[in-house]
Amino acid sequence: MDVITFANAKGGAGKTTAALLLASALARAGHRVMILDADPQRWVSRWSEEAGTIDNLSVIADVSTSSVPCHINDARMAGVEYLVIDLAGASDPLVTTVLGLSNHVLIPVQGCAMDAKGAAQILDMLNTFKEQAGIDIAHSVVLTRVPPMVTTRALAAVKALLAQRGVHVLDTAIIERVAFREMFGCRGTLFTMDPLRVSNLLKAQKNAQMFAEEVRGVLPRQAKIRHFVRDKRKMRSVPSKSLSIA
Ligand SMILES: Nc1ncnc2c1ncn2[C@@H]1O[C@H](COP(=O)(O)OP(=O)(O)OP(=O)(O)O)[C@@H](O)[C@H]1O
Ligand SMILES: [Mg+2]
Repeated sequence: MDVITFANAKGGAGKTTAALLLASALARAGHRVMILDADPQRWVSRWSEEAGTIDNLSVIADVSTSSVPCHINDARMAGVEYLVIDLAGASDPLVTTVLGLSNHVLIPVQGCAMDAKGAAQILDMLNTFKEQAGIDIAHSVVLTRVPPMVTTRALAAVKALLAQRGVHVLDTAIIERVAFREMFGCRGTLFTMDPLRVSNLLKAQKNAQMFAEEVRGVLPRQAKIRHFVRDKRKMRSVPSKSLSIA
């Protein structure tokens, strides 16, 4: 199971939106997904209460520093493939605990505004984990709320700037879309909205799917790891004689 956390100490960076659209796209693709709502403002929980049952997607509300390890364990036992955690725009003990338990941290940064301070706080925390505890937590910046008409060149410049500082940036940016704003009140997901009532819905869905695919691509390949372990077991069970070349 992968634990993917959205973090940016600055409020309003686009964490909850990105978390919900990632979870929705993964669930839509048939993966078992759970969202841990670790924001006291409970945006995802409120959405879930209104949305009702969604195939492959469950939400756990009121996550605290002491309960988060149990939730992660329960999710693993329940066969969840992707655990998505939405954090508050803060830098408190819950943020530190969740970061430390994550496989991959996604840091939404508004493409044009470059709300760098909140992102820098998270990068500093991740650096502290690495230097003081030897825990290297993979992380990427995802550019969000990028205007649809922004030029590829302008985006490439922002990416290059971050890359120069050694920060990995996802190729897929999350575009500013009405659908991403409205999905919180839609009593469903991005994929059950009415295309006649929401402008550019198909483009928004495609954007979410590409984002989810890229995120899956940066995660450690679970399948490969499983095969590797299985193959190693097989090799161990093969009598040594049959391994020798005649
Ligand atoms: N790609 C997007 N397109 C359109 N609106 C967006 C997009 N991303 C975020 N928003 C809007 O920006 C606002 C802030 O986004 P969001 O709640 O996701 O940020 P956040 O980082 O979770 O904030 P907080 O720190 O308060 O939890 C919301 O009104 C949301 O609808
Ligand atoms: Mg939020």
